[in-house]
Amino acid sequence: MNNYKKVEFNVNKNKRTYQDIEKNVTIEGNGKKFAIITYGCQMNEEDSEKLSGMLKRIGYEKTENRDEASIIIFNTCCVRENAENKVFGNLGQLKALKEKKPELIIAICGCMMQQKDMADKILSTFPYIDIVFGTHNSYKFPEYLNRVKQEGVQVKEIINKEEEIVEGIPVDRKSTVKAFVTIMYGCNNFCTYCIVPYVRGRERSREPENIENEIKELVSQGYKEVTLLGQNVNSYGVGLEPKITFADLLRRINEIDGLERVRFMTSHPKDLTEDVIMAIKECDKLCEQIHLPVQSGSSRILKEMNRSYTREQYLELVKKIKKEIPDVGISTDIIIGFPGETEEDFQDTLNLVKEVEYDSAFTFIYSRRKYTPADRMENQVPDEVKHDRFNRLVEAVNEIIGRKNSEYDGKVVEVLVEGTSKNDETKLMGRTRNARLVNFVGNKENIGKLVNVKITKAQSFSLFGEEV
Ligand code: SAH
Ligand code: SF4
Ligand code: F3S
Repeated sequence: MNNYKKVEFNVNKNKRTYQDIEKNVTIEGNGKKFAIITYGCQMNEEDSEKLSGMLKRIGYEKTENRDEASIIIFNTCCVRENAENKVFGNLGQLKALKEKKPELIIAICGCMMQQKDMADKILSTFPYIDIVFGTHNSYKFPEYLNRVKQEGVQVKEIINKEEEIVEGIPVDRKSTVKAFVTIMYGCNNFCTYCIVPYVRGRERSREPENIENEIKELVSQGYKEVTLLGQNVNSYGVGLEPKITFADLLRRINEIDGLERVRFMTSHPKDLTEDVIMAIKECDKLCEQIHLPVQSGSSRILKEMNRSYTREQYLELVKKIKKEIPDVGISTDIIIGFPGETEEDFQDTLNLVKEVEYDSAFTFIYSRRKYTPADRMENQVPDEVKHDRFNRLVEAVNEIIGRKNSEYDGKVVEVLVEGTSKNDETKLMGRTRNARLVNFVGNKENIGKLVNVKITKAQSFSLFGEEV
């Protein structure tokens, strides 16, 4: 897809905006190309969309082909070891490219850079990198580029303290139909396995007016769906004046004319309140979908993980959600092999998965992260045990998802058409309100519209149908 849209919007209330920062940038791209390689979660995806937005505004163009790029940016993730390994592998390959093309600018940013000593380690291994920055200062990238271009220096700036939120950054979104909108940054939860709070800082919420303005601008450009992003959206609003809760924000966004669908992620089970469940039930634009990471089905392990809920409380919450929101799609994240996990704990997880009957699940093998409490726990689970449990979990999850999908055979569902199918340009793809992926035969003119699709074949991870 090359029909990217760039969104700029009016900013209320904020002290500092991107427009102030941009004044110091004098270089121009003149059509030269940049490539961004993004690892990790939607937070990084959104940051990359902003990097792209800022570069396009000074005249650069985006390319997917690294060979024709004058700037290559790596936006890194460190949530698990394999995410980091991918980055190291890719940086090594760039040496040859840089030798062939000395004027190539290589930048590296994202969560990995916020880890203690990581930036220095990377620079000593890959000295040909030109710009290194972290998650708190990515809006300064054009400024750094300016310095490299004008002074011929290497720039490294990692900020370890979160700053006030900078508004008004242009965003160059991948889709023209649905958009991510970050409503809060950071995480205060410190789950014992997780590195995110260390690399993304403490929770900060955006002013509701800025979020609304951004969504209204998106709608005026033709966008139909937004996904509100945060590590724990349920604690949205803490510290804002006047007071506002996440449920209040959802109800305000539901009033925006022309918007069709609203989703959000992630909900921490300890903070998902009744008023959010009721907002989903009562607001027509809020989709019947909740991403509710459980991580483990064993109360003992949950305690060790510092998740602040028990198996019983989680199941109670799921029961309430299912009672209030018929046809709701519930998805989750599960970690296998957390330190001290016994076969019995694992069976608790398996049974919970079967009881909840998730509509989709992301399953992960526990990965030791330096500086987190779980890394210092002594009873680490051996690799082969982890892999065996992981395989058994995936089998159970797939069986449930396949069975739940098969219930859609013959049904008519409402789909927001996002574009053509990934593997077959002659077909269309979109999602149901409860987030099921549907590939179907239909009219290309309906991209960006809501259509009814009759399901003719249910596959393991998606549905297939025809527009009716
Ligand atoms: N804030 C979100 C997402 C965090 S990262 C949340 O709380 O759900 C996405 C997922 O990565 C987590 O839900 C968790 O399942 C997984 N994860 C985090 N740290 C991990 C680690 N050290 N090893 C394996 N999986 C991990
Ligand atoms: Fe990590 Fe837990 Fe925060 Fe999610 S809630 S980002 S898993 S510390
Ligand atoms: Fe990775 Fe950072 Fe997201 S560590 S999972 S990209 S918040």
